[in-house]
Amino acid sequence: MEAAVAFLASVTPLRPRHAVVLGSGLGAFADALQQAIAIPYSEIPGWPESTAIGHAGKLHIGVLNGLPLAVLSGRAHLYEGHPVGKVVFGVRALGLFGVRALVLTNAAGGINLSFAQGALVAISDHINLQGVNPLTGPNDAALGPRFPDMTSAYDPAYRAVARAVAAEIGFDLPEGVYLALAGPNYETPAEIRAFRTLGADLVGMSTVPEVIAARHMGLRCLAISCVTNMAAGILPQAINHEEVLETGVRVRDRLVQLLTGILPRLPV
Ligand code: HPA
Repeated sequence: MEAAVAFLASVTPLRPRHAVVLGSGLGAFADALQQAIAIPYSEIPGWPESTAIGHAGKLHIGVLNGLPLAVLSGRAHLYEGHPVGKVVFGVRALGLFGVRALVLTNAAGGINLSFAQGALVAISDHINLQGVNPLTGPNDAALGPRFPDMTSAYDPAYRAVARAVAAEIGFDLPEGVYLALAGPNYETPAEIRAFRTLGADLVGMSTVPEVIAARHMGLRCLAISCVTNMAAGILPQAINHEEVLETGVRVRDRLVQLLTGILPRLPV
């Protein structure tokens, strides 16, 4: 990780305190950066490659309307076979590089029937059913405590900013609980009914390891899901990855506008 941080320090004079992780089909935001450099993950020492379709696999560092910003376009997922330590490598490297505020986006299935396909939803809390945890193993006390608190993992002040910006743009930003699975298969209808009973509003295959690693290091987090599809069994049709990507493309302008409004207003 030290090698990755030293590499980043050598390729840019910028020291961003804000970073964004872009999910499946949501990569357009990186184009909004000014004075940006784009570094393929393969050039950063130790950085895992992201192989998922719809994920570019580049770290962008630039300026967004005066705000220095790091953007991870493409993330490593458990379902690609990466150990969870690799899944959180980028977030940890950015934390060590000086990032204090982390905004994550993802594609998610909608479990809550009040969400429409294409809706943006702020994650209020999560349920980790991925079966792994990035903090398993000896604790690195230089990163954070052995038993980190997760009470306000999704920063309430950041969520208030997100709601306010959405309202200014002219749309409602509901909140929901995100349940994370390892994937890669989409869920069964029986699983979705069970998860609704457990209190989940959204289901997906990412974000939770990154938020756990980020909170361990004391970063403040905001996560926005794009409801790319209703979860399995809700509609009388199968779920396919093309639909997930297409919905991401359809809402991307709204997401770019939302992120652009939110980021400068997140205190660090
Ligand atoms: N389930 C899990 N992950 C997802 C889904 C889904 O329905 N849609 C997008 N990512």
